[in-house]
Amino acid sequence: MYHNPVLLQKSVEGLNIIPNGNYVDVTFGGGGHSKAILQKLVDGKLIAFDQDADALKNTIDDDRFVLINHNFQFLKNFLRLHKLEKVDGILADLGVSSHQFDVPERGFSTRFDAPLDMRMNNSQPVKASDIVNTYSEEELKRLFRDYGEIKNSGCFSRAITEAREIKPIVTTNELIDCVKKCFPQHKKNKFLAQVFQALRIEVNDEMQTLKLLLEQANELLAPGGRLVVISYHSLEDRLVKNFIKSGNFKGIVEKDFFGNPIVSFKQITRKPIMPDDIEIENNSRARSAKLRIAEKI
Ligand SMILES: C[S@@+](CC[C@H](N)C(=O)[O-])C[C@H]1O[C@@H](n2cnc3c(N)ncnc32)[C@H](O)[C@@H]1O
Repeated sequence: MYHNPVLLQKSVEGLNIIPNGNYVDVTFGGGGHSKAILQKLVDGKLIAFDQDADALKNTIDDDRFVLINHNFQFLKNFLRLHKLEKVDGILADLGVSSHQFDVPERGFSTRFDAPLDMRMNNSQPVKASDIVNTYSEEELKRLFRDYGEIKNSGCFSRAITEAREIKPIVTTNELIDCVKKCFPQHKKNKFLAQVFQALRIEVNDEMQTLKLLLEQANELLAPGGRLVVISYHSLEDRLVKNFIKSGNFKGIVEKDFFGNPIVSFKQITRKPIMPDDIEIENNSRARSAKLRIAEKI
């Protein structure tokens, strides 16, 4: 299976679909969420994005549907191209698909020895191996600290810069080998997941593209339109939470001249919705998912 959609019912319900409305699924993947949206639409339209060319094979043959093989950071431009000024809902199911994790040569998984790639879009020039072999020790330290949330990030950056003096690091196993002295064996999986997460975020510029998406969503949603975001790690979730609350990424609500808060969204979910035990049992990728829903004022 290409991808088992996470929080499918709750996220699509969160869009509060109007049968003749216009919707966007910015992370098409295997198309699970898109298909569920189309089932609720009558003569509306669904525009979907995925930057991974592999996702194109899952396209849906339906006159109401368009799949765009580009980064969702270009959302506004492509909606304009399709003559859409405003939309009634935007759904983002962030991160990588199971397909991307499960194909060894994509280099996303710690489970396989493979080229250190991690690009969602294979035509983009920078791979994870370019980052580990060219970033300074200080840049690598920052990356593992900020994107991997690793406390002893200095050990990892030093291990990498020392190893690459001898030979460039080009495979997942070479990377794992050189950093293994930085964590106890029984915490191997946790640390490696953090290292791989940090590199993946950097390769795909995930934090910056998420910011661009949220800002454009604010501009493009019609009043009453819904923003539905499923995130998989705390860095993403914090950005989404702050933006929904305050319209900025720091989460500081500004006030007008009269002291009234200036907000663009009504929070539909004050606390994120998480998958229940049954979903997690059936789909381990759902484990870290957090769903937030907001309505444009
Ligand atoms: C978690 S999967 C989505 C799965 C999908 N909801 C489903 O039901 O199959 C995330 C997908 O979004 C794509 N993606 C992630 N970031 C993107 C971006 N900035 N622009 C376009 N596509 C992106 C990935 O390539 C991946 O296929």
